[in-house]
Amino acid sequence: MKKPIIAGYDLLAKDLLETFLTTEEIAARTSDLGEQISADYSGKNPIMVGALKGVMCFMADLVRAVTIPMEVDFMAVSSYSSEERDRGVVRVIKDLDLPITDRHIIFVEDVIDTGLTLNYLLRSLRARGPASLEICALLNKPTRRLIDFPIRYKGFDLPDYFVVGYGLDYAEKYRNLPYIGILKPDILFGQH
Ligand code: IMP
Ligand code: MG
Repeated sequence: MKKPIIAGYDLLAKDLLETFLTTEEIAARTSDLGEQISADYSGKNPIMVGALKGVMCFMADLVRAVTIPMEVDFMAVSSYSSEERDRGVVRVIKDLDLPITDRHIIFVEDVIDTGLTLNYLLRSLRARGPASLEICALLNKPTRRLIDFPIRYKGFDLPDYFVVGYGLDYAEKYRNLPYIGILKPDILFGQH
């Protein structure tokens, strides 16, 4: 088991099976992704669109790793009932502030799991006629994918674990943990 290097988070860390990604590992990968994006979008003034709230830490670090002129916007979607989720329905709580027609868009996600959320959001963004639309995801869970699409900028592949920290939550908790850990199954299934 990777040891969480950062002390003082015992009340959160006690619910973790193990550390999945340390702060340093996340920072190194984020820096690489920022470098790639800076090279690919030079002269294009892209808009990086984050999907709240899970993306908050990744977005904050990623945009600071991008060295070219760019703009930031956010969308927020509600968590859905299992029934709605199965139909791929997502409720948009906050839409973009910026118009994106003819703009280069990088959509930034925390985790892509089934792909249903992203599929819905991409359809909505495509309908507005952006010049280009690419995906950047910190974590990819390929085993549970129902709808697939190319992920141009990918942080890490994740086996079928439920992870928290670095913005990712379980029932709104753990977002402030500075690294990413695998949640204990008994917490996940509410047996504690
Ligand atoms: P999808 O529609 O199944 O792709 O769901 C993706 C969304 O579910 C992500 O944007 C996350 O908000 C959430 N999610 C999926 N897996 C995890 C996880 O392991 N930890 C925390 N949130 C997750
Ligand atoms: Mg999300």
